[in-house]
Amino acid sequence: MRTETEHTIYLKDYTPSPYRIVSVDLDFRILTENTRARAQLTVEPRDDTAPGTPLVLDGDGLVLGSIAIDGAPLVLSAYAANDDGLTVFEPPLRRFVLETEVTLQPETNTKLMGLYRSSGTWCTQCEPEGFRRITYYLDRPDNLAVFKVRMTAPLDVAPVLLANGNLVDKGDAGDGMHYAVWEDPFPKPAYLFALVAGDLGSITDSFITGSGRKVDLGIYCTHGKEDQCLWAMDSLKRSMAWDERRFGLEYDLDVFNIVAVSDFNFGAMENKGLNIFNDKLVFAKPDTATDGDYDGIERVIAHEYFHNWTGNRVTCRDWFQLCLKEGLTVYRDQEFTSDERSRAVKRISDVATLRRAQFPEDGGPLAHPPRPDQFREINNFYTTTVYEKGAEIVRMLATLLGEAGFRKGMDLYFERHDGEATTIEAFLAAFADANGVNLDQFKTWYLQAGTPKLTVNEHYDADRQTYTLKLTQETQPTPGQPNKQALVLPIKFGLLGPNGSPMGWSEVSGAEVRDDLIVLNSAMAEVTFTGIANRPVASLLRGFSAPVVLESQSSQQDQLFLARHDSDPFNRWQALQDVGMALAVAAVKGTPWSDASVTALSEALAETLGSETLDDAFKALALNIPDEQSIGREIATDIDPDKIHAVRGKLLHAVFEPLAMQLLATYNALASTTPYAPDALSTGRRSLRNRMLGLLLASEAAGADMLAAQQYGNATNMTDRMAALASSTYAGTPQVAGMLADFRTRFGGDPLVLDKWLAVTAAAPRDGVIEDMKAILADPSFPKTNPNRLRSLVGTFAMNNPTQFARADGAGFRFVAEFVTEVDKINPQVAARVLTGFRIWPMLDSTRRDAAKGALAALQATALSRNVADILTRMVGG
Ligand code: ARG
Ligand code: ZN
Repeated sequence: MRTETEHTIYLKDYTPSPYRIVSVDLDFRILTENTRARAQLTVEPRDDTAPGTPLVLDGDGLVLGSIAIDGAPLVLSAYAANDDGLTVFEPPLRRFVLETEVTLQPETNTKLMGLYRSSGTWCTQCEPEGFRRITYYLDRPDNLAVFKVRMTAPLDVAPVLLANGNLVDKGDAGDGMHYAVWEDPFPKPAYLFALVAGDLGSITDSFITGSGRKVDLGIYCTHGKEDQCLWAMDSLKRSMAWDERRFGLEYDLDVFNIVAVSDFNFGAMENKGLNIFNDKLVFAKPDTATDGDYDGIERVIAHEYFHNWTGNRVTCRDWFQLCLKEGLTVYRDQEFTSDERSRAVKRISDVATLRRAQFPEDGGPLAHPPRPDQFREINNFYTTTVYEKGAEIVRMLATLLGEAGFRKGMDLYFERHDGEATTIEAFLAAFADANGVNLDQFKTWYLQAGTPKLTVNEHYDADRQTYTLKLTQETQPTPGQPNKQALVLPIKFGLLGPNGSPMGWSEVSGAEVRDDLIVLNSAMAEVTFTGIANRPVASLLRGFSAPVVLESQSSQQDQLFLARHDSDPFNRWQALQDVGMALAVAAVKGTPWSDASVTALSEALAETLGSETLDDAFKALALNIPDEQSIGREIATDIDPDKIHAVRGKLLHAVFEPLAMQLLATYNALASTTPYAPDALSTGRRSLRNRMLGLLLASEAAGADMLAAQQYGNATNMTDRMAALASSTYAGTPQVAGMLADFRTRFGGDPLVLDKWLAVTAAAPRDGVIEDMKAILADPSFPKTNPNRLRSLVGTFAMNNPTQFARADGAGFRFVAEFVTEVDKINPQVAARVLTGFRIWPMLDSTRRDAAKGALAALQATALSRNVADILTRMVGG
């Protein structure tokens, strides 16, 4: 394999830089042909820096124009500049100003890191290592500096000039040019730098902080889309209020701006005072955005805003600590959504996401600890393990310490580290010290990869009136970590008596038990409850209190009992899923289900659907059978996705056909009479109604295909239209081709809606889908430089089309591998991300395994970026 320089970076090698950059003066002259960037860096040696220590600055693909120290140009022998940096051999051993000038080509920057142009707008992305593509710098998060930015640009193409902080000056620069100067008083690492220059529309608003300061809010976008930014603005204001209420955290600048751009490598970026967003996470109107889109916007607007404290005011010492800001901020955005909407529904959907995305990562070739200790390419570590498992770890901390104890820890963390770049150790120390507890063992969660399996065996002794839970934890080896430690597992639980109500006990021994919490911190423990008059049914891991796989021997009868009676909504949902899962898995393995067990599940689901107390959103989540990929994961070895697809289809049919009348009646009763609104109640209503439609289709109820086509045609919002289209496509109804063609003509002009069409097309579980995708990609008008388009099509295929991606003839694997080779030359980050779809390969049956290996081997024979090479090496076990 030919790759860019391969070089592993280790956490153990961390050392502070011998020099610090304390302030930065940037001057950009932005022209349509190129951009000239001049930087004046005020540099200081550390007290212990030895004379003659070179100053080594990062650079990536920069061409140095001029260089001077304190105004005096450097002679050629005093420095060396190459493709990955600039070295000044003997800088003065005192404070000095280093001035450099480079010329950038944002127009041809298709990697979308550093300064680039998206639909005519100049914008930047610097996290994690994009700033070095703008100027020579100490591009590491532990160098905090104050930034002043001057931009000069043509008034006609770039009337809007934005950067971090506050606008301090602007004016005419002659020759059709104008300028603006922005200053950010808060010292920050370079990854939080941002600028935007372009011809943009905007909406404005303001927010009065708790202490009475007025903050000007702006959202900038392509002209004509202003009306689609209102939901984002509403979400922003609610986020600002929530962070004050819940954590006492106020915004600190006078301005907060958001810019929506159409070419962006991921969701959004928390640059200080100037967040830059993928436009799909800003724009929403009812006829083009779904409830899911509204949800995503609210969540990510909140996430980036919350970073202002968890990420910006307190940042990371080095990139190994990424989950210090990401895990914590995901936890905070989850809590925001829980408080704004339904806590139970939010928890269920977050856990579903965790299982769908993070568990397979943790159980496959790309497994890594939430805080890794080595990497070759940091961009490949913006993973669901760092983000979502990172958030689970913070959630466990909150569970163990209680809400008040958690808040004390947060307060101490800010008190100690505001304005600093710090570590996971410092974060944990704040919680330990604030609560007088020891978190040494708890820290293992950050250091150890893999999903623990928690096995539970129960024993009821009627004579002694004791009930014993034997709890065992085990974590399988992961790449580079053959031996695993026992973790601290907070297990929320309850015992249910025969009539379904909570059951108490006189004494409990065998582990630390506090109220409704068992803390398991050894490989095995036997927890015995005394004074138990009848055999209870245990509800374990309530609210999914630890990110583990729970294995229990509980019978279908006990599970359905919990589904009816558990006071914990999460476990009611879980119990129903477990019953469906057990039936599906047994059938795939050759043991068909009994009529009685299917009937029992149908009845429990009917009762759930008919409940007067459960809300619609919950019902929509509960009325389902685990998806194909979850079933595959449960089976874990020698997977045949076609078989799983077939079995799941039959099970859906068997379980839901008897409910057809009730499904239809519910569907009809939920028809909306009011205009679209994205609130929790209306969203829940639509999701339940659309679930009914999906289930009617899955159980092949007479006329369901027509009903779906009708809903598609008559829909007054995108949520209902997409739901009809997606479930018709999954079911393969006769009307699908017509609907897809209609969708294409109706919405083809709106790129974000085109993405929905691309995604539905790519997820269709039918032969011919690969040929269709090839035709789409071959169309010269298809924008191969736009990450959203590429991910919607090929990303969806690799992640969400298990039968066609893992075709036994290898065509799906080859298609994706060829795509990766091609796109890698344009945008390595997008290519590397799509390639991770292969991580399921070791679980497949031998024919498919060989096919996947063949495709990966062919890829390995080509020239690859470091991003793709790193994923590939780990994927094949290098
Ligand atoms: N910090 C940003 C966020 O999560 C995302 C940056 C992603 N960077 C990357 N290279 N993938 O809010
Ligand atoms: Zn983040």
